[in-house]
Amino acid sequence: MGNRPIGVFDSGVGGLSLLRELRSLLPNENFIYISDNAFAPYGALSPDDIRKRSQALTHWLSEQSCKLIVVACNTATTNAIESLRKTYQIPFVGIEPAIKPAALQTKTGVVGILATKGTLSSGLFHETSAAYGQGVRILEKEGKHLVEMIESGMLQSEEMKQLLQSYTQPMIEQGADHLVLGCTHYPFLTPILTRILPQHVKIVDCNGAVAKQVERVLNKKDSGCESQHMGNTNYFCTGDSQTMLQFVSPDDVNVLSIP
Ligand code: DGL
Repeated sequence: MGNRPIGVFDSGVGGLSLLRELRSLLPNENFIYISDNAFAPYGALSPDDIRKRSQALTHWLSEQSCKLIVVACNTATTNAIESLRKTYQIPFVGIEPAIKPAALQTKTGVVGILATKGTLSSGLFHETSAAYGQGVRILEKEGKHLVEMIESGMLQSEEMKQLLQSYTQPMIEQGADHLVLGCTHYPFLTPILTRILPQHVKIVDCNGAVAKQVERVLNKKDSGCESQHMGNTNYFCTGDSQTMLQFVSPDDVNVLSIP
């Protein structure tokens, strides 16, 4: 059981930001990463289609004998994790916007959140904001085009900088002192955001907390990897491998069709 891989999926390269934390916390584990970029962005899909994609990827990962699946996508977690848990016996760990830590730490009582339309309109996101955001003003903003731009390699572009400025400036003007990155693609924008945001604004993502949760679940189920060797990661994408190649060496990337 212990040496079986951990499956990780996202609509694209965003989940690699979470995988980075997972590999650093659990270096002996083996991972299988899927970028479902043939169907990205998930934020533009209907909740039903997000669930169908999540089911299809989970089905494939379960055939690879994954012992745990990390839904490394806020949009898929908030729309599909419940249905995945109902269908599969495998333990799942998902990721949701880090409203709770931001709401606990804000001094101004105003928190900005950038996420996809799919996440912001989901029932689970509303439940989490209602439960943890009490007494705090939460300014929601859809990060329109950000996923597509990151997927097409426009991370450092002037357009990206301007778009981020237009999304975050109104939040700053309304007093936000925390910016929650509610999409796993967005931590790749942290260097630009750090340059454009005032110094007192804290950028929050919960990749580290999710990695720790994966460790806790493995320990609880006594299914951590027993090997003392560095684990392997196999990368798959359902569409073009171009974007993945900016992050991973060509020998490690495989193209896969999951209808
Ligand atoms: N990384 C995904 C997330 O965390 C992006 C979703 C999309 O493809 O729109 O929400």
